[in-house]
Amino acid sequence: MRAVTGLRDTNNTDIVESLSTFDLPKIREFQKRTKLGKLDHIPGGSGLPFIGHTYWFLTDSHAWIDRKYAKNGPVFRAKTPILDMVMLLGPEANKLVFKNEGKIFSNFLAWDNTFENLFDNALMERDFAGHKKERKVLQQAFKRPAIESHIQIMSPALKAGIEQWPTGRTIKAMDHVKQLLLNVGAKVFLGLEMGPQADTINQAFVDIVAGCGDPIRRKEIWFSPYAKGIRASKTLCKYIMDTIPERRKVAGDDMFSQLCHMRDDEGKLIKAEKIRDHIIFVLFAAHDTTTSSLSAILYALASNLEWQEELREEMSSLNKEGIEFDDINALQKTGWTFKEALRMYPALSVIPRYALKDFEFNGHLIPANTIVTVSSVFTHYMPEYWTNPYKFDPYRFSPERAEEKQHSFQYIPFGGGAHKCLGLHFADVQVKIFLFHLLKNYKVTKNRKMKKYKYNNIPLTFPTDGLPLRFDKIAPTRK
Ligand code: HEM
Repeated sequence: MRAVTGLRDTNNTDIVESLSTFDLPKIREFQKRTKLGKLDHIPGGSGLPFIGHTYWFLTDSHAWIDRKYAKNGPVFRAKTPILDMVMLLGPEANKLVFKNEGKIFSNFLAWDNTFENLFDNALMERDFAGHKKERKVLQQAFKRPAIESHIQIMSPALKAGIEQWPTGRTIKAMDHVKQLLLNVGAKVFLGLEMGPQADTINQAFVDIVAGCGDPIRRKEIWFSPYAKGIRASKTLCKYIMDTIPERRKVAGDDMFSQLCHMRDDEGKLIKAEKIRDHIIFVLFAAHDTTTSSLSAILYALASNLEWQEELREEMSSLNKEGIEFDDINALQKTGWTFKEALRMYPALSVIPRYALKDFEFNGHLIPANTIVTVSSVFTHYMPEYWTNPYKFDPYRFSPERAEEKQHSFQYIPFGGGAHKCLGLHFADVQVKIFLFHLLKNYKVTKNRKMKKYKYNNIPLTFPTDGLPLRFDKIAPTRK
């Protein structure tokens, strides 16, 4: 596959500077005056009248992407009433987009459609030098001492939450995972105990996420999910801003309290507005992605009972009631399971960017001002890299096989380059603690009639049937 062969400079140089310094008025002015690039020369056609490729993209994007690749190769058009995009497939496309040499791609201009008025100033929306500076600030909240204190909060909270789940009958497992992660998230990120305040904050968060998914995006329609999301965002922002002064006075193990005590490069406390923007975005970045991943893992374990037993043995071999930082790496097979679930069912199956310059990929000239998307789900099933890619096979991540190591951009569940997920170790820790408490005490099964994982990839990968599974208490195992 041939990668970039050359770049034509366009007159978008100013916007690179505005994005870097996050000069919002100038960015908004650029958005108003700029039309998206013309894509009629890109293969793949424009789909059905008005809806374009929306139906296929929303109902079964993985199969649709595979079909388009077979017909058109690694570059083709994906058209919806809201956006006309170009898909770029394969590890070389991922490398081009994530490495972003020559500052071709903007995150802000790609994600703004989703986040505007809901998650303003999110780290993931920042670009270039400004992004680098902000990422350095937030990175402190993901260092080892911070994660160690988060484990102290998460482990008992996950254990207690799982103990509340109904046993001996089939339940919609995804709803339970979602609620559990909301409650645990309120504790670990915000330092909130269960109660009316946590309920209000959790509800605000749920409303903001629903607002992100509202395609109409009219704030004047007050009952629309988007308008409700904007009101909820104000509630959450106000709660954070009002609480910062008291958090600055005492130390705390939760991420919000820790950010209130952290300092920037010049030794100054991080500004209240920045703490607000970072913590609200972290809540968002952590929640649905981990819900998606745990749902996929639970399905895989219910479908592979022998493997479930192997993980249970791995947990029991620790011979512990709780889990600490040093135990995390010992759970090797559990780690491969997480990786394999993310390979088969990556939470973000497509990742968008906005091209600020014309560029060439695989013989196609993509004009400046085009939304391009790369696809993890496509690359994660490429037979060139993965043996029997449709088979759940965690051993492919073992050091002996290391299938993921043939190309640095073939496995991208956490993205790559400057914007690579900051919470990937946190997610690994959380998933392992969850599975530790679950598998030591419960067996997970599914109805034999349930032959495959029914899921949708857009906007995130979630089971469409709520994931009907059964949890049965087992006698505690000890070695
Ligand atoms: C399995 C769970 C997760 C998955 C699959 C996931 C996936 C991703 C992906 C693909 C990106 C890059 C998006 C882009 O390039 O546009 C990203 C960014 C990010 N994630 Fe995660 N994530 C997960 C969990 C978390 C958690 C638990 C946290 C925080 C506690 C977190 C915090 C972030 C942040 C802050 C960014 C923005 C990084 C930047 O732009 O510099 N994520 N995540």
